[in-house]
Amino acid sequence: MKKVYLETFGCQMNVSDSERVSTVLESENFELTSDEHSADIVLFNTCSVREKAEHKLYTRIGEVRAQHSNKKIVGVLGCVAQLEGETLFDKNPSIDFVLGTKASGRIVQAIEKVLGGESRFADLGERDPDYLWSVSQTQKHSRHISFVPIIEGCNKFCTYCIVPFSRGREISLPAAEIIRHIQNLRREGVREVHLIGQNVNSYRPKRLEGLEEFRGATHFSRLLRAVAATGIERIKFTTSFPRDFHTDIVEAINENENLCNWVHLPVQSGSNKILRLMRRGHSIENYFQRIDKIKSSNRNISLTTDIIIGFPDETESDFEDSLKMLDYCQFDSAYIFKYSPRSGTPASQMTDNVSAGEKKQRFTELENRQRSNQTKIFQTFLNKQVSVLAENYSGKEGFDLSGRTSCHKVVHLKGSPELIGKIVDVKIFEAKSNTLYGKVVGNFI
Ligand code: 5AD
Ligand code: SF4
Repeated sequence: MKKVYLETFGCQMNVSDSERVSTVLESENFELTSDEHSADIVLFNTCSVREKAEHKLYTRIGEVRAQHSNKKIVGVLGCVAQLEGETLFDKNPSIDFVLGTKASGRIVQAIEKVLGGESRFADLGERDPDYLWSVSQTQKHSRHISFVPIIEGCNKFCTYCIVPFSRGREISLPAAEIIRHIQNLRREGVREVHLIGQNVNSYRPKRLEGLEEFRGATHFSRLLRAVAATGIERIKFTTSFPRDFHTDIVEAINENENLCNWVHLPVQSGSNKILRLMRRGHSIENYFQRIDKIKSSNRNISLTTDIIIGFPDETESDFEDSLKMLDYCQFDSAYIFKYSPRSGTPASQMTDNVSAGEKKQRFTELENRQRSNQTKIFQTFLNKQVSVLAENYSGKEGFDLSGRTSCHKVVHLKGSPELIGKIVDVKIFEAKSNTLYGKVVGNFI
């Protein structure tokens, strides 16, 4: 039996694609291993959203080849594969095959071709019509949490972003299938699902089947209500796009306890000039209106975001606008990135005129401001009771388990291993800027 080692970079969509690649391999009698040294086949599911992620791929292939010369088959999947295609063989001649973002269902055929003597081929084709979206029990990244893709691709073309090129146009999965899938997951004991897509708010299936009985201002909010009605205990969704974030989503959360208290709404910048250059399609005032609506909910919805600093032509005054935006929004967490030009995007034609030194300085200043805001928000959880899905053993000394709240905060807790997979009431006794610490009190289900 051939052994396969699969390494995944990047977003939840890649993690989800990898789960299905492993499912197919397992069903065709390959053995999945976490030990790259003993593997016959090494696969990299790649990310191209920032330059750093792409470089990591080349480093990792170099490491595998340096240690094992040409004994292993090496395949590249995912976003770098889709964007680079056959040019990857020029960059790294030791790659055996390349499978694009929608071709990953043909992983077994690709490996068999290499075993049959072919090499250096690329498949960048579309998904097969009978592509299976389900994941076997053994290949899930978690026994208790499942990622459920609802929409693939992106039509937004923000000027800095490579995703519309690597993932193609938006395609929504049929609602009836999504709902059936979640009903099955619930029966298998899954407690939490994440509805995933580059822009979940643009969800627009070809047919209404499965949504008929559910009202809502958009297809996405109807889907949220339909998924809530399956009775699965926790539902989270990422990523939301501000312009398409209809406030009815907040109403749906208010009405349904199992829609979790968390919205990830990337803002990218606080400056209207930069938002225009990024072609985000919203002003900072529009964004604030959505934030006001989210904050007005009686559910204490936590809010997280992505921010890019150092976009072309970002002046000190634009950066000041991002600092003000941070103070206005009071995010529970923010992922901050230094702008990195991606070849093929419109922004890569602009001059990358914010120096590396300025980027570093702005990054640190924004990070410090966020940490200070965030610490205060986390402090408000002290002595409060939260409900936590215990996911794993904790790596922190003095704590047994770790998990997340409905509002997606990491909690380390003291409690018995039998609680893994359970939703437990936890009292918080310590709060750091990014993590809560607590002990189990009372009930678990
Ligand atoms: N440079 C820096 N950050 C980027 N992101 C996307 N493209 C780039 C880029 N070219 C960030 C955005 C996005 C997140 C997933 O990655 O903030 O929301
Ligand atoms: Fe990229 Fe913008 Fe699409 Fe998000 S919405 S994936 S940032 S193009």
